[in-house]
Amino acid sequence: MNRTCPDPTDFPASDSLQEQVRFLLHYAILAPSSHNSQPWLFRMVGDRLEVLADDSRWLQVADADRRELYLSVGCALENLLVAAEHFGLEHTVHYCPDPADELLAAKVEFSPPGEPGVSRPPELFDAIPVRHTNHQPYDERLVAEEIQRRLQDIVHDPGVHLWLTGDPQIRDSVNELVVRADAVQFADPAYRRELAHWIGQGVFGTSWLMSKMGSLAVSYLNMGKPQGTKDSALLMSAPVLGLITGNDDRRETQIRAGQVYERIALLAASEGLWTHPMSQIMEVPECRVEVARLLPGDGGIPLHPFRLGFAAPEETRTPRRPLAEVLAGGW
Ligand SMILES: Cc1cc2nc3c(=O)[nH]c(=O)nc-3n(C[C@H](O)[C@H](O)[C@H](O)COP(=O)(O)O)c2cc1C
Repeated sequence: MNRTCPDPTDFPASDSLQEQVRFLLHYAILAPSSHNSQPWLFRMVGDRLEVLADDSRWLQVADADRRELYLSVGCALENLLVAAEHFGLEHTVHYCPDPADELLAAKVEFSPPGEPGVSRPPELFDAIPVRHTNHQPYDERLVAEEIQRRLQDIVHDPGVHLWLTGDPQIRDSVNELVVRADAVQFADPAYRRELAHWIGQGVFGTSWLMSKMGSLAVSYLNMGKPQGTKDSALLMSAPVLGLITGNDDRRETQIRAGQVYERIALLAASEGLWTHPMSQIMEVPECRVEVARLLPGDGGIPLHPFRLGFAAPEETRTPRRPLAEVLAGGW
């Protein structure tokens, strides 16, 4: 596994559409995904690209209802569309086009030339290789209202909403949920086994030795308490908490929510700001119910919580599967 970003000047503008789309996919796979599982596959059918969820990489314990699986696919789809717009390819997305094929998340039709849409500022493209999940404590600098407004302004997706808050009372409540969720998850041997499996694969960018040691530690030790303490400090350091919600919890809405998250993460990165999802409060059912109660009025169904703030960039970057591994049918 490696992580490389192509040189944009290498875009094969005079080659076939298939070659161009394959180039765009180098950007798609830099997207975030839960446990860096990269649960996506891409298939070219004529002039259309099919974006599929890779069920073999589904986190069966942490993500029992596959919400994060489809959110992650949505993140990759968003990077793809940002890159397509950058290189002047117009696109139309058909979400979940085949009710008989749950794994077919979207079909994308391309046609040159395109103009950047209103929801995608051009700076998103340059942010693709810069963005990463920043797990460090965030510093005290506040996130200006104007930046928060800009983040809100790029959310135009039907049925999906962004809620940002710096309310200390909400932060305290979320903090309690994070600590509770960590305790519940780490007390569950199946959760620890699943996490240990992914850590052991080196998905978090640690060395071979650290990955193996981390995997063993998570398998055999209940680290719920220290994890809760660590996550609590991270959460409390964040000047802003974000929550992406949906009018419903259907697959299409989950995919769109993933797109919104990635767009926000990219715009944030272009401002020197970082994001960090904290999904444990969604993964433990009793905590998810409590998250919904924190929302004002008819805030929708919670889909993806994260913290937002300033910090130095992280030194360790997560690796990616080689592109060839995610091209379904080997094209
Ligand atoms: C749907 C989703 C859920 C995630 N949940 C968490 C989480 O609960 N805790 C965490 O530390 N990171 C979480 N992440 C971040 C991933 O771990 C991260 O995207 C992945 O390791 C790749 O690293 P990168 O984002 O730095 O490229 C999540 C990402 C996505 C897309």
